[in-house]
Amino acid sequence: MAGDYIVKDIALAEFGRKELDIAETEMPGLMSLRKEYGDSKPLKGARIVGSLHMTIQTAVLIETLVELGADVRWASCNVFSTQDHAAAVIAAADIPVFAIKGQSLEEHWDYLDRSFMFPEGPNLILDDGGDATLYVLLGARAEAGEDIIPVPQSEEEEVIKAQIAKRMKLSPGWFTKTRDAILGVSEETTTGVHRLYELQKNGQLPFPAINVNDSVTKSKFDNKYGCKESLVDGIRRATDTMLAGKVAVVCGYGDVGKGSAASLAGAGARVKITEADPICALQASMDGFEVVLLEEALDADVFITTTGNKDIIRIEHMREMKDMAIVGNIGHFDNEIQVAALKNHKWTNIKEQVDMIEMPSGSRIILLSEGRLLNLGNATGHPSFVMSASFTNQVLAQIELWTKGDDYNNDVYILPKHLDEKVAALHLERVGAKLTKLTPEQAAYIGVTPEGPYKPEHYRY
Ligand code: NAI
Repeated sequence: MAGDYIVKDIALAEFGRKELDIAETEMPGLMSLRKEYGDSKPLKGARIVGSLHMTIQTAVLIETLVELGADVRWASCNVFSTQDHAAAVIAAADIPVFAIKGQSLEEHWDYLDRSFMFPEGPNLILDDGGDATLYVLLGARAEAGEDIIPVPQSEEEEVIKAQIAKRMKLSPGWFTKTRDAILGVSEETTTGVHRLYELQKNGQLPFPAINVNDSVTKSKFDNKYGCKESLVDGIRRATDTMLAGKVAVVCGYGDVGKGSAASLAGAGARVKITEADPICALQASMDGFEVVLLEEALDADVFITTTGNKDIIRIEHMREMKDMAIVGNIGHFDNEIQVAALKNHKWTNIKEQVDMIEMPSGSRIILLSEGRLLNLGNATGHPSFVMSASFTNQVLAQIELWTKGDDYNNDVYILPKHLDEKVAALHLERVGAKLTKLTPEQAAYIGVTPEGPYKPEHYRY
């Protein structure tokens, strides 16, 4: 249906298309899937709801899914991450999309609802952070008369409840019917995957789920090397601050923390780490970073949360920070920093997604993207090349769920290693890497076959 979209300005489509053309040259994994499956159209009949940052890279993903035969409707999974020219180019291609950079929370949940509105209903979800999955499951619980509170993002609770109530009134029974028609979900990120395993543990997962995040070619690349490029990009575009010589604290040293610390260190900052896990704390130490308690490092210049956990930087921390300390989050949700506790302080908006907030003492902090992920709020997220690896996993996961869904139980799965290796292999040529071929003797000696997989399941990379 023409005009089935909400974007900032459809006239941005021309600019979007030019950037998309460049991105395609950096996304060899997706482009080779188009070549491999463009004729056979394995996703024919699939009606995919996408809830993932509406960026230029995502536009290449969307057009790949469509080229493989799918019908797609899209919303962003974050209020600040949309690139309006990327949304415009998708809308101009007659693919329904509902995303505007800076949309309100009410609009966010309304747009997510709209992304489900296929005339025949959706049958697959492609999720980032789990909001699309959450929406259907909470709604179905509400229809069954069950309590749907607390939801994970507590500050959004009222908005989510209101949106669910609206849909229940408009289309009674819709959530249950939709949940029962969904054949599976593929989930992009650590936080969303965490929710899926919780559902599985509690016997509440109503369809199979593929954990894309834990493909090696996703979390060990996107979360790490992606943040290595996009964290400092976000801080610079927001503040133009000189990072060399400054002290930066990175909270968390998982995959995103490792990339974030490398990003800041690469810019010349002196980086300190906080960690709760002794293994990651030891890794940080051996990588040359001082591992500290946040309370002991409040005289730093920059603070970045990367934990996927809540209440990491609290109000009492922000009150102790030096004047003009920069505070930002690169984890999925905004509850890593206690932004709600700042609401009754004096806010001065500097520009979009950059605010100066005055503490009772008179000292100020610069808060990026209101505590939402700053690499997508203040910059344009990860570069295309690394997103190609992530999204190639996403497309393979969708093909798997659509063509072999019956082989799966209602559990969380990781793509098999041969597909993980395939994703990596598709990206070698672009970086000029040449792969050594194992002789049959060598392969036998290390217990693999010359065609792979090259590592046992327990190998950790
Ligand atoms: P991870 O689980 O590998 O790392 C998180 C680390 O934080 C763990 O090592 C954990 O021990 C540590 N941690 C937990 N609570 C802590 C506390 N109170 N203090 C200090 N450390 C603590 O997770 P990963 O993959 O690094 O993802 C982190 C977050 O980033 C997730 O929300 C994920 O969804 C998100 N993400 C964001 C991306 C972006 O582009 N902005 C890209 C990929 C993931």
